Amino acid sequence: MSAEFPEVRARRLRGTRALRAMVAETALRPAELVLPVFVKEGIVDPQPIGSMPGVVQHTRESLRKAAADAAEAGVGGIIVFGIPADKDGLGSAADDPEGISQLALSDIRREVGDDLVVMADLCLCEYTDHGHCGIVTPAGTVDNDSTLDRYASTAIAQARAGAHLVAPSGMMDGQVGAIRKALDGAGFRDVPICGYSVKYASAFYGPFREAAEGAPKFGDRATHQQDPANVLESLKEVGLDLAEGADMVMVKPALSYLDVIRRIADTVRVPVAAYQVSGEFAMVEAAAANGWVDRDKAIMETLTSIRRAGASVILTYWAAEVARKL
Ligand code: PBG
Repeated sequence: MSAEFPEVRARRLRGTRALRAMVAETALRPAELVLPVFVKEGIVDPQPIGSMPGVVQHTRESLRKAAADAAEAGVGGIIVFGIPADKDGLGSAADDPEGISQLALSDIRREVGDDLVVMADLCLCEYTDHGHCGIVTPAGTVDNDSTLDRYASTAIAQARAGAHLVAPSGMMDGQVGAIRKALDGAGFRDVPICGYSVKYASAFYGPFREAAEGAPKFGDRATHQQDPANVLESLKEVGLDLAEGADMVMVKPALSYLDVIRRIADTVRVPVAAYQVSGEFAMVEAAAANGWVDRDKAIMETLTSIRRAGASVILTYWAAEVARKL
């Protein structure tokens, strides 16, 4: 309270739960949440992921149930990451019509129809034996343009399998344009593309690489993923993706990049998605397991902050759990 302005009070609207709820500026909707899922070829039971408590590598059967369950909870979408039994230099399983991702996408479509937006992550790192996101040259670098051909044919395979939307996450230049052209040429003009337009070279993907078995066997992803120090190149990446025909754009990770989400949400005229990645999930779960943070409150606080920063779609491993509580 200030002596000069005794009538000024910031706390008046915080007095009761009902008052706080009435003036809340940010709310989450189940339909804007997207559940990332892992499905592995050749396993008979779902496999727990050590660094992601409660998340599993699904069998086709358990994935069908998880999709039905997510739809029932009101979740908006599901994004599929497939882990093939056999990997090679080209990532041949990525565009194989009988590959695990395509089988899982069509299983999910059969299970939920149009009740969920069935999204396909489009990258090669889960399918290549070296764990890189594209074709590796003899010199050991990821070759941009030959990788685009692989992405184009993977997008067609995913659309044929029933994906409602494809989400290229490999950070190759020109990937959205190449995929748009391929989809249009194959009769999939109506399949939208959500670019992982802004993707930082982040330590927070650590648990995912265990889950998706896609850690690079040598080197890192710093020549194609972005430097956490920068924001200008995020604006550039988004501009390029929109010019190439992206229908939505994504920022990833979320929590360390709320300023980037805000900058982009203020700039573009398309929906902005944000990916609360595996390391963000694992940090909260690990701290909560130790009794160091209140798990449920921490989850809601992170998601509300991502929404407040300007994301209108949020990918989160807690999607089904949170949707049920909203
Ligand atoms: C690449 C991809 C990655 C994630 C989503 N898509 C990993 C990477 O770039 O190494 C990370 C997601 C997460 O950490 O939850 N296919």
